[in-house]
Amino acid sequence: MDYSSKLLSDEKLDALVVFVSEDSDLRRNGLSNLPRALKKPLSSLMELGVFSGKKGTKHHLVTGDATWKQALLVGLGPVDKLDGEGLRRAAGKVGQNLSGLKADTVGVLVTPLLKKSGKLSLGTVLAEGIQLGAYEFKQYKSPDDDSPKKLAKLRVCDPRKLTDSKSVKVGTVLAEATNSARTLGNTPPNDLRPQQVAEHAQALAKRHKLKCKVLEEQDMQKLGMGMLLGVSQGSEEPAKLIILEYRPAGAKQTVALVGKGITFDSGGLSLKPGKGMEEMKYDMCGSAAVLGAMSAVAQLKPKVNVIGVVAASENMPSGTAQRPGDIVTAYNGKRVEVLNTDAEGRLVLGDALAYTVDKLKPDAIIDLATLTGACIVALGHYIAGAVTNNDELMGQVQGTAQRTGERVWQLPSDPEYGEAIKSNHGDLKNIADGGAGTIIGGVFLEHFVGDTPWVHLDIAGVAWGVKSIDYHPSNSATGFGVRLLLDLLQQWRPLKK
Ligand code: BES
Ligand code: MN
Ligand code: ZN
Repeated sequence: MDYSSKLLSDEKLDALVVFVSEDSDLRRNGLSNLPRALKKPLSSLMELGVFSGKKGTKHHLVTGDATWKQALLVGLGPVDKLDGEGLRRAAGKVGQNLSGLKADTVGVLVTPLLKKSGKLSLGTVLAEGIQLGAYEFKQYKSPDDDSPKKLAKLRVCDPRKLTDSKSVKVGTVLAEATNSARTLGNTPPNDLRPQQVAEHAQALAKRHKLKCKVLEEQDMQKLGMGMLLGVSQGSEEPAKLIILEYRPAGAKQTVALVGKGITFDSGGLSLKPGKGMEEMKYDMCGSAAVLGAMSAVAQLKPKVNVIGVVAASENMPSGTAQRPGDIVTAYNGKRVEVLNTDAEGRLVLGDALAYTVDKLKPDAIIDLATLTGACIVALGHYIAGAVTNNDELMGQVQGTAQRTGERVWQLPSDPEYGEAIKSNHGDLKNIADGGAGTIIGGVFLEHFVGDTPWVHLDIAGVAWGVKSIDYHPSNSATGFGVRLLLDLLQQWRPLKK
């Protein structure tokens, strides 16, 4: 996506995107700079009420003018209610509708009206929203001969210099990294196994000059990662523990991002029902967010060390699979009774977290995991669940969520919840009676982070299945977490002890 601050009359464009607010007075709200050829039909459209700028609406205008042949009008709703997320969603609508324009080069007009969306950088929000909205996962579709598709070139047209090319670039990096996380999520589980996750990480490291280490099962054996190995032992495919490192000169603090990477979760011997089991290809969306974030980190270069850790495994039933009742020894020495092999995420993550704390000694950890179906029951598909041992870190994450629109809701984790996972014959058990499934998952993980400030994000609901947000595709992965993590890292403030 390019950026240009030339006068509109000096641009050569096949189509122009114009955001219109519901109460748009064409004179006052900055649309006065529209080319004449567009202003007239736009005012008639609004007078007739054909297009009124309502939130979530759009209109493809074909003018008959020789220079300004078409415009895509996108509604913002009432201007005093416009915020950054509203603009991002309107931009998402643009992305979704680009292929409907008959255009090679599309200009997106930045008008003073858009400044009303608040403090967020306009160029970033626009670039993000449009490129997220334009995402499609078509790798597994036969090419459609009727309409050989060519993606239109996009240009942010900013004659009044209300934003800048750097902001547009940032939004582009964030959207591309999010889209790559989506693609990892959407890739079918026969083509994305732990080996391919590791290859993806290695390619990413090579491209962006990050350090990458992949621990094999023999290494994990030596390290004593009994929980992770217990989960993977039912699968023909060996597990991988992937560690990516970004260390800019002068950085003093280190933040670790840890992702659940179950490339397929059948439940293991505690087998899931058949209906909907295919969705468990998305059970690696936490690790996809970590990998997407690492690629954006390498490009946007926050001033903090960032370590990405991905625990990749399948969870399969077989003659070698872990049994309900098995007791395994975690990396940190805790003995864990596996009462349900379908509560596997906390097992792989627990070892990954304990290893991260012990070997990499971060100042803070964020983990992301599609950990519990209970999180969907509690919060649905719009807000992630959070469990933490540090309110200050949680506060930073909340601030970030406000800016990126990737919302999180903290759940309580009072000590009583911890009682429920005390095991009869071991130290801990991996499931509990008494409800609060998402909290239980969180308090289980807390046993593996020691004193390190930590926030666990349960992204089971938000990682896919989101509807009616125009920059998210429906029935497909959202890439949740990439933008959140980047904002957190870019705004990073050391925690008070
Ligand atoms: N990956 C699932 C959680 C999940 C389920 C995410 C459905 C999204 C949609 C996780 O491994 C799991 O199976 N959790 C169990 C935990 C239970 C056995 C305590 C669950 O949520 O049912
Ligand atoms: Mn499971
Ligand atoms: Zn799972």
